[in-house]
Amino acid sequence: VRYGDQAVRQGHGGETHQVAGDGRPSLTTQQGTIVGDDQNSLRIGERGPTALEDFHFREKIFHFDHERIPERVVHARGYGAHGFFETYAPLTELTKADLFQREGERTPAFVRFSTVAGSKGSTDLARDVRGFAVKLYTREGNWDLVGNNIPVFFIQDAIKFPDVIHAVKEEPDRGFPQAQSAHDNFWDFASLMPESTHMLMWIMSDRAIPRSFRFMEGFGVHTFRMVNAQGRSTFVKFHWKPKLGLQSVVWNEAVKISGADPDFHRRDLWDAIQQGNYPEWELCLQVFDDEFADRFRFDVLDPTKIIPEEELPVRRVGRLVLDRMVDNFFAETEQVAFCTQNIVPGIDFTNDPLLQGRNFSYLDTQLKRLGSPNFTHLPINAPKCPVASFQQDAHMTTVNPTTRANYEPNSWEPEIGGPREDPERGFHSYPAEEAGAKRRLRPESFADHYSQARQFYVSQTPVERQHIADAFVFELSKCDRVDIRSRMVAGLRNVDDELAVAVAAGLGLPELPDPLPAAREPIRDLPP
Ligand code: HEM
Repeated sequence: VRYGDQAVRQGHGGETHQVAGDGRPSLTTQQGTIVGDDQNSLRIGERGPTALEDFHFREKIFHFDHERIPERVVHARGYGAHGFFETYAPLTELTKADLFQREGERTPAFVRFSTVAGSKGSTDLARDVRGFAVKLYTREGNWDLVGNNIPVFFIQDAIKFPDVIHAVKEEPDRGFPQAQSAHDNFWDFASLMPESTHMLMWIMSDRAIPRSFRFMEGFGVHTFRMVNAQGRSTFVKFHWKPKLGLQSVVWNEAVKISGADPDFHRRDLWDAIQQGNYPEWELCLQVFDDEFADRFRFDVLDPTKIIPEEELPVRRVGRLVLDRMVDNFFAETEQVAFCTQNIVPGIDFTNDPLLQGRNFSYLDTQLKRLGSPNFTHLPINAPKCPVASFQQDAHMTTVNPTTRANYEPNSWEPEIGGPREDPERGFHSYPAEEAGAKRRLRPESFADHYSQARQFYVSQTPVERQHIADAFVFELSKCDRVDIRSRMVAGLRNVDDELAVAVAAGLGLPELPDPLPAAREPIRDLPP
């Protein structure tokens, strides 16, 4: 049953039997009782009080009162669509993942695009990272590639995630600014965290204000593994490249559009798909082995670094097509739950400390947001392959084991004993060797925070560089503390002096500060 059809629920025999005279379904309560009057509550006398026995009124108001669920703690504003992923050619040498085994194989997909910082009702055109979360309903389980439209991240270690998000969201005492990188707290944090510099360059560039979702790249960010049937592991970085090419709007356009049509991006996706202009992205892989990883100048586990495509070209392995809007925004887009831990045999994790932290975080927050561990039963989250487990009960259960045994191992015959683990076809973690003392120190290989920021800046055209400088000036001008502005410019001196000078001049700083020390750790204990 699709969502649209659920407005008329089916009766015992599958028939829809409560139909009013003109052929429309009769309005009923949640219990199926036909409602005779939906305009007036039950009252005593002509102008008297409302009667407690008005079950229709009571149920209607009760349900309305509970409509809201918590918005996502990040990526609250989002827009989703259905489609499919089509494999160009088998990738058996790289992975045993079922979706990559057959040429032309189509795997159903659901994608949710989002902004990170703003609340559910914020404007689409904010200067922000965009989420690019893809759920692939493969024959061997759901694989979620929960990416962004920028290939690097602000922080190297997930333990800093609450800090970066607190710093970018509204300030706790005054409750503003919302969804803006334009305030003291954000710049205070960013200027104390040199590891965020590379990401800042992307955020202040035109990349951060896409023309629409259809003109946006996507990145898995982390290094992942692919594992083939022989158990050989290869490192891989995932990229989505839009067939329409990459396009952005400039800041002046973004400001106007935000005022005139804050739904500009979602309207664009809705219109395109409804008109049959189905947007497409190609899945591109950067594939490399241990030898490449050892020789690469940066640590492939560091999520603040890219592997330049000039050094490691991408391989196009399939296409993602979005061809159907949701039937119901809340049921699908709002209740979809992506998780980096949703992987399938043939894909595996690496030790990227941001990825490891994400693996822990998503389930937790989704339990809070959706209210029950049974959110996996919701049609948008349920796999489209057989599911058989002994997990049971909890709030809102719709699917429970139907066998007598609900534990494993058991010695019952199959009809009563239920499912069994399957060593041959099941998921086995790649047996990477790990050893060492427990420690909290960042590895030395994560220490260079500026080289790739510089590489990004110098790769831009003069016009794009000007936009970066203008964005820094605009956003930093909303930061009242001059010492924070100055510290940020001091960091930019490690990126490019032309940029630092332009930003200092734009902000009217009395003098150009000395470059920050090339810090390996967050900067602490500075005098105010
Ligand atoms: C949500 C991407 C880092 C925690 C999301 C979403 C995306 C995303 C696309 C939206 C999913 C949706 O549309 O429903 C990323 C990327 C990251 C990153 C690419 C870094 C490379 C982190 C980290 C944490 C985290 C480090 C925490 C340790 C969350 C949480 C949500 C979320 C709690 C809300 C999920 C929900 O309520 O369903 N992330 N994220 N993310 N992310 Fe991340």
